[in-house]
Amino acid sequence: MNSDLRAVIGALPLDVAVVSAAGCAGPELQPYTDLAGFGALITRSVTLEAHPGRPMPRLVETPAGLLNAIGTPGPGVAGFVSDELPRLVRTGARIIVSISATTVADFGRVAAALRHCDGISALEINISSPVLEEGVLPFAADARGAAAVVHAVRRNTPAAWPVLAKLSGDVADVPSVAIACRDAGAAAVSLINAVRGVALDTDSGVSALGSGLGGLSGPAIRPIALKAVWDVHARAPDLPILAGGGVTDGGSALSMVLAGASAVSVGSGLLNDPRCVDRVTGELDRLVGERGGSLSALIGAAHGGSETEWEAG
Ligand SMILES: Cc1cc2nc3c(=O)[nH]c(=O)nc-3n(C[C@H](O)[C@H](O)[C@H](O)COP(=O)(O)O)c2cc1C
Repeated sequence: MNSDLRAVIGALPLDVAVVSAAGCAGPELQPYTDLAGFGALITRSVTLEAHPGRPMPRLVETPAGLLNAIGTPGPGVAGFVSDELPRLVRTGARIIVSISATTVADFGRVAAALRHCDGISALEINISSPVLEEGVLPFAADARGAAAVVHAVRRNTPAAWPVLAKLSGDVADVPSVAIACRDAGAAAVSLINAVRGVALDTDSGVSALGSGLGGLSGPAIRPIALKAVWDVHARAPDLPILAGGGVTDGGSALSMVLAGASAVSVGSGLLNDPRCVDRVTGELDRLVGERGGSLSALIGAAHGGSETEWEAG
């Protein structure tokens, strides 16, 4: 490594500022990559009860991304603690557990069920899943709802674990939601989750996904993610941002940092290339090396004059 790629997300130190996004890496990648070399691994979202996930088909390719409607399949938090967490911990990766629920109280219950577990470095609260029941908005659609979830999770989480709120880019005012989460106790925000989308099967005329609505990820959403990072950093420069959404190479990772991110996540890039985190890290290392060698010195470096024109545009 030529550069200093260390990062701090809230109180969470990372040796490398590149992590795998929620639901996109697990022990199955071990034959291809060293998970312990990631900044951290964020689990798929863990729910209170076991869940089968959404009906098939769950994935559709789009020209510059992936539409997924996976839901939150899994054994529930009890099964996660007994079976999945020990396997994840054995990989040597730093583990951030993503949690999800449909009520504020259940978010608190999932957090409480994890609080005595060893091997967890932080929690990420998934309040931004794009695939919900018809007409239901995610908690991240509204600053008050988002803050209520952060508060419930924070109350049930050991003080040593930073809580990250994972927000949506699909809302009009992302910074207000981010600031409400910070004020409710979030140490950092993750920006952004997949963006709502649909795909039609033109022969049958029905959705190409089993559950209708999907979440778009990959390079197609990179500009949306970058805008969210930019806006949140402009309004709350002290709030650490973990940026994801189309990060697939060193250049896209560096743009997120220049816009205000402290670290980046790689999601669907790992589905194409299981070594994507290693590649992004290597390329970022070179790019940061060419710019003074310290990633933390580059956070938000692109701010400084152009935001007025962006707002006007
Ligand atoms: C296959 C797949 C599974 C995912 N599972 C989760 C999940 O369990 N929880 C969550 O918060 N986000 C989940 N996501 C969203 C990603 O963590 C990420 O926020 C999103 O894909 C945007 O990043 P990307 O463009 O790098 O993929 C999933 C995405 C994909 C493609």
